[in-house]
Amino acid sequence: MKLTILGGGGFRVPLVYGALLGDRGEGRVTEVVLHDLDAGRLSAVTRVLAEQAAQVADAPEVTATTDLDEALRGADFVFSAIRVGGLEGRANDERVALAEGVLGQETVGAGGIAYGLRTVPVAVDIAQRVARLAPDAWVINFTNPAGLVTEAMSRHLGDRVIGICDSPVGLGRRIARVLGGNPKEAWIDYVGLNHLGWVRGLHIAGRDELPRLLADPDLLGSFEEGKLFGVDWLQSLGAIPNEYLHYYYFNREAVRAYQQAEKTRGAFLRDQQAHFYEEMRNPDAHALAAWDRTRAEREATYMAENRETAGAGERDADDLSGGYEKVALALMRAIARDERTTLILNVRNRGTLSVLDTEAVIEVPCLVDANGAHPVAVAPLPDHATGLVCAVKAVEREVLAAAESGSRTTAVKAFALHPLVDSVNVARRLVEGYTDVHPGLAYLR
Ligand code: G6P
Ligand code: MN
Repeated sequence: MKLTILGGGGFRVPLVYGALLGDRGEGRVTEVVLHDLDAGRLSAVTRVLAEQAAQVADAPEVTATTDLDEALRGADFVFSAIRVGGLEGRANDERVALAEGVLGQETVGAGGIAYGLRTVPVAVDIAQRVARLAPDAWVINFTNPAGLVTEAMSRHLGDRVIGICDSPVGLGRRIARVLGGNPKEAWIDYVGLNHLGWVRGLHIAGRDELPRLLADPDLLGSFEEGKLFGVDWLQSLGAIPNEYLHYYYFNREAVRAYQQAEKTRGAFLRDQQAHFYEEMRNPDAHALAAWDRTRAEREATYMAENRETAGAGERDADDLSGGYEKVALALMRAIARDERTTLILNVRNRGTLSVLDTEAVIEVPCLVDANGAHPVAVAPLPDHATGLVCAVKAVEREVLAAAESGSRTTAVKAFALHPLVDSVNVARRLVEGYTDVHPGLAYLR
């Protein structure tokens, strides 16, 4: 089984490889091809993987290339985790929006739109190449904004592209634990768009236990989302939102906290990771130790940072290790071995949410088997959630249209229609600001 990782020089790739090393089952991945545009980053990560594999018998063989077509040929799975514009781009996405007084965040609001506008054309090119060179491959998309990017790719790959995110799994796991249940045995009634979903029920042994949680302020206040949103607000909502909804429900506080932070998250990661890749230029450096140290620092600041500023709250050990690599592995196993399982994934709606068309990519529990991911029926969203989902999907559609036509006017429309951008004039200035700093947006005319 051959797995191609796009963004193969990325800092999180050792997490994925670590998960593969733990998989001893039949039909496991035996060959990993790393692809990246940057040969220096590729060689740094390749060295980390070599050290990871050193003590493991039958470790998957690793090769690296900067040639995309070569990387894709013969792949059974393509894992896409690219960051167009790098962390410098992410820092600029944050900075330009915050300077306008609106949310500057990796995937939400103006920052997410800017990121989407420069990522969609690249993702579409990848999808077209996969369709040509590896038509039988399954594409697992982790590239953010994951829902939007998956939808862009699905226009060329249909249901052979599946988007993943670790946040709904983490949320379900935390709720199940608070309720004293085993997360693996819980059925989570969750739906929405990526980073815009709600848990409306959590069934253990055939009984919905969420009402018990919502009725108990002590239990509610005891876990990350309870602290983040507050007991009163969760009781008013009657659902537990994905942590990213904090940026909507507490937007003013989130923007202010981000404006006051010494460094944005993107700027922090940019500086920290630059240090790691710099260190790797020394051929004698211990790659795995340097990577581990950088990761530990990253996680420590995640905790410290989020206690003071808006955003995700405290995280448990599983969340800190990422978690998305586990979702990716579970998905690959279910498809490759026809081991049926249920995962919350980003797939085409078909008829799941009746307010959206069949092609709209949504985030929803899916049954996964050798035939791919099949969304399950869920209860309709309440009106306020439907309103947000429809508004944000409309914005995503404008982003897709702008990426296809290269129209600046359409890009302005995408920003202006977003619920977290409060004036058309702000949207116009955002397009000016972003096109000034992002070479990847030069296509907008
Ligand atoms: C979670 C989200 C990802 C996001 C990441 C940011 O894992 O699901 O979509 O990219 O957080 O984490 P970072 O450490 O890069 O700020
Ligand atoms: Mn995510």
